[in-house]
Amino acid sequence: MDHFAPESDSRAFRSALGSYATGVTVITALDAEGRPSGITANSFASVSLDPPLILWSPKRASRRFQTFTEAPVFAVHVLARDQQAACDAFVRPEGGFDLVPWREGPEGLPLLDGCLSLFLCRREAVLDGGDHAIILGRVWEAARRDGHPLLFQGGKYGGFRANNELHPGPEAEP
Ligand SMILES: Cc1cc2nc3c(=O)[nH]c(=O)nc-3n(C[C@H](O)[C@H](O)[C@H](O)COP(=O)(O)O)c2cc1C
Repeated sequence: MDHFAPESDSRAFRSALGSYATGVTVITALDAEGRPSGITANSFASVSLDPPLILWSPKRASRRFQTFTEAPVFAVHVLARDQQAACDAFVRPEGGFDLVPWREGPEGLPLLDGCLSLFLCRREAVLDGGDHAIILGRVWEAARRDGHPLLFQGGKYGGFRANNELHPGPEAEP
């Protein structure tokens, strides 16, 4: 195992962080002019069940940073494995609403079709996170369906395969 100081080797730091596998989300909101905005993000995390809180981190350098830190409400879409097109579409600064099916939801929020789960959030706090901010959201409505997630690890996308032989899930316990 190679050891390094993140401050002097940011490449190695990035690469070590990238070994942590995540799901992929698209966060949507309305900008100050009321136009739909969306961004692909894997910094999403659950925070609290009671009250229901989640977080994600927009990069300060992003052209969409202000839109997302100022939006009073936003939607988090957890992508399914067959939603690579949505993931790619919202990496682009001009957004991808012309490329994927979506509809207008509560409070005018743009909602993408076909995701695995959806969290409608009110901005609870925006915290300092270095070259990112940490947006804490309070979930007022959530939805889910069965399906397979899109995963991201080491700069690559893939799917999930349960390792039932090594670690039986909770429902397999006697
Ligand atoms: C898998 C994946 C995860 C990403 N996660 C984040 C994230 O959590 N926060 C973020 O600000 N940008 C994230 N990005 C980059 C944004 O989607 C976007 O491309 C980048 O911020 C450029 O933004 P801009 O065009 O608005 O300047 C991610 C990109 C990919 C492909």
